[in-house]
Amino acid sequence: MIPAPVITVDGPSGAGKGTISHLLAERLGWHLLDSGALYRVTGQACLIEGVSWDDHPAVTEIARHLDVRFTVDARGEVRVAYKGTDVSAAIRTEEGGRGASTVAAIPSVRDALLARQRDFRQPPGLVADGRDMGTVVFPQAELKFFLTASAAERAERRYKQLISKGESVTLARLLQDIEERDQRDSTRAVSPLVPAEDAIVIDSTATPIERVFEAVMQAVTDRGLASK
Ligand code: DC
Repeated sequence: MIPAPVITVDGPSGAGKGTISHLLAERLGWHLLDSGALYRVTGQACLIEGVSWDDHPAVTEIARHLDVRFTVDARGEVRVAYKGTDVSAAIRTEEGGRGASTVAAIPSVRDALLARQRDFRQPPGLVADGRDMGTVVFPQAELKFFLTASAAERAERRYKQLISKGESVTLARLLQDIEERDQRDSTRAVSPLVPAEDAIVIDSTATPIERVFEAVMQAVTDRGLASK
């Protein structure tokens, strides 16, 4: 049997990957892998179980047996549950991001989550959103995108998002967090954040998300994937 096709969407946080991946999966009727959510749930599970993010063997055990469930609620929003408890909001906080980035730098944690990510590859196809989807998890993907935007622009987008959710944050603090996380994600020894050699790189700093999606859909159509 020919394996289901995969489109990978990688890039730093705030570059619009999540939005583009959702739109793309919806348009194509394909499955969606939000790999960042797996790292976020792993970090959150550590907090719940009382395990320090620096305790590599214990964090790896948590990742290996991660009881996580993704469902779509009545409003079409993805809900994430750990051991049956909804952690959707908790994993999206700044602390959730820090935990994810910290545990994601542990090689054995990445290994533990590898097979689980590949299991998402099911017919009719998969849109995989992350940092190393095109380089490590699905190197044979049919089509690869790398979305990027300046740190200042990403901090601004994140600021608006968090303020609208009622979180109290400052733009300066967010920018600092984003720069630190970029640094950690792109310099770590395993699966650093780099575009795959064959990825289409799109800079969305000055481009509205609708335009970015048009460019993405054009490439998908050109590759003959839109009707599969
Ligand atoms: O995409 P996100 O912001 O939800 O990702 C949260 C963290 O997880 C991010 O700091 C980097 C890490 N991550 C990763 O290392 N590899 C992935 N494929 C996805 C996310």
